[in-house]
Formats: sequence, C-alpha cells, structure tokens
Amino acid sequence: MQMLRMNDGAKIPALGLGVWQIPADQTARVVAEAVGLGYPLVDGAAIYGNEAGLGDGLRAAGVARDRLFVTTKIWNDRQGHDDTLRAFDDSVARLGLTPDLVLIHWPCPDRGLYLDTWRALIRLRDEGRVTSIGVSNFMPEHLERVIGETGVIPVVNQIELHPEFQQAELRALHDRLGIVTQSWTPLGHGRSFDAPAVQAIAARTGKTPAQVILRWHVQLGCSVIPRSTNPGRLAQNLDVFDFALDAAEMADMAALDTGARGGPDPMHFN
Ligand SMILES: NC(=O)c1ccc[n+]([C@@H]2O[C@H](COP(=O)([O-])OP(=O)(O)OC[C@H]3O[C@@H](n4cnc5c(N)ncnc54)[C@H](OP(=O)(O)O)[C@@H]3O)[C@@H](O)[C@H]2O)c1
Repeated sequence: MQMLRMNDGAKIPALGLGVWQIPADQTARVVAEAVGLGYPLVDGAAIYGNEAGLGDGLRAAGVARDRLFVTTKIWNDRQGHDDTLRAFDDSVARLGLTPDLVLIHWPCPDRGLYLDTWRALIRLRDEGRVTSIGVSNFMPEHLERVIGETGVIPVVNQIELHPEFQQAELRALHDRLGIVTQSWTPLGHGRSFDAPAVQAIAARTGKTPAQVILRWHVQLGCSVIPRSTNPGRLAQNLDVFDFALDAAEMADMAALDTGARGGPDPMHFN
C-alpha cells in the first residue's frame, strides 16, 4: 500500500475504509472483511455509532496492530478542552484500542470552541496518548487560526472531495502547509460514473468507474476512504494500484468540477 508522510513524521495509507452509515451490527463483519482483503486504514468517528464494531472487526481480522491505521473524530457536541479529553477517552473505551489519528470532525464556528478543542488534541499528543492529530472540514480561516494560535499544523484535513467538487484551492493550501488531504464521499454518490471522461478511462484500463475515480484521488496525492459493505466492491475499491491516469486524463477529470458541494457547508454546520 502506498503511504503518505504526514508533517509529524508518521505515515498514513493512501486508501482505507470509511465506516459512516455502516450499521453497528454489521461493522465488525465489514471491517474484518476489509482488513482481511488488505485494507490498512479504517476511518471511524464517535458520531457513526459503530466504534465498538470497528474495534471488534480489527481484532477479529487478526492483523498486527502496528500494520493498521485507525482514525476517530471528536463530534461537535463534545468540543471544548475538557469535553474533548473525555470524548477521546470514550472513543478509546468503545474502540478497545488507541486510534492512530484523532480529528476534530467539524469546525462548528458558531460554537466558538474549535481552538480549545485543538489545544486538547495537542495535549493528548504531547502526553503520548495519541500519535497524530488533525482536523476535518476546516476552511482556510479555521486552519490559519489554529496554526497561528498554537504553532501546531494539523497532519490531515479530511474534506468533501469528489469529481464534482474538487477543492483545488484548499488542496493547494494543504500542500503549502504540509497537510495531507483526505477525501470524504470520494465516489460523489456515483454522480460522475457516467461522465464521458470517466467512461473513457474505464474503457481504456478495463477498470470500473469507481476504480477510476479512486485512482484519480490517489494521483491527486490524497488519502481516500471509500465505504462499501459489499465484499466484491470492497475488493474492487482496493484494486487501484496497478494502473494510472495519464496527464490528459487527469485534465479531463479536472474538467468535471462543478464547484458544487454535496454535503454541509463547514461555515454553517454546527
Ligand atoms: N469527515 C466528514 O465529515 C465525513 C463526511 C462524510 C463521510 N466521511 C468519511 O468518508 C467515508 C466515505 O464517504 P461516504 O461513505 O459518504 O461515501 P462513498 O465512499 O463515496 O460512497 C459510498 C457509497 O458508494 C457505494 N459504493 C462503494 N463502492 C462502490 C463501487 N465500487 N461501485 C459502486 N458503488 C460503490 C456504496 O454502496 P455499497 O455499500 O452497496 O457498496 C455506498 O452506497 C465515510 O464512510 C466516512 O468514513 C467523513
């Protein structure tokens, strides 16, 4: 598996499994299957309600802990310094393990707590309780504020990113700051599967539209976390490291950007 180096020196896999909306009673099975197929990363969150299943699935897979990368996220209603420390402990207890990476799930600017939340993550890191700390759905002003106030640069910003919403400016800022971009809803609800650019690459390479799009994320330099509960699609989504889009095909993919966000606007989601 291709790995991306983060600004704290640790490495994050270029592809992993996202577990949002996987029912709690199916999560252990799906995670164990994915890890058995070779998925090295599982992206979870407290709000997904399936951290216990995530941890159980990892243990059932029987893969050494140091070969797995686990992410969780602090939900909006646990922001603030002390609440975040407690929320982290709650996630560790549910997972039954210590995550490699913890993210602030949303900046929630109206709550006014993301800076205190960031300070709590710095404390967790400094106390050796978690290796890597990052953010999700942060806009440039949120990144600039936490970095300006603390001097600590998040290792990852996990953001909505798919062919219809490519976030070129934010990715460029991440590159300047040394932040890994991680793509959520990477398949964009399949809305680009029929786009001529995607279909042409799929025809040339013998890959599916989903594989073409996941490969595009990898070539953008992102870490990508597709979700599937289907064993065949789990395997398919991992199988994107034996072909490449050429420069013209990357340009064709770039032209699919509409600038239209599918999910919530981080400036107003609280
Ligand atoms: N930080 C955030 O705020 C945030 C927000 C949203 C998501 N995320 C993270 O990002 C992860 C991925 O995003 P997502 O779950 O929204 O969407 P996604 O991974 O883009 O798409 C998942 C959907 O695509 C289908 N699918 C998967 N592989 C496919 C394939 N090869 N061909 C056709 N269909 C396929 C799945 O159905 P089947 O299961 O039937 O295959 C499922 O309905 C989440 O699970 C979560 O970990 C984070």
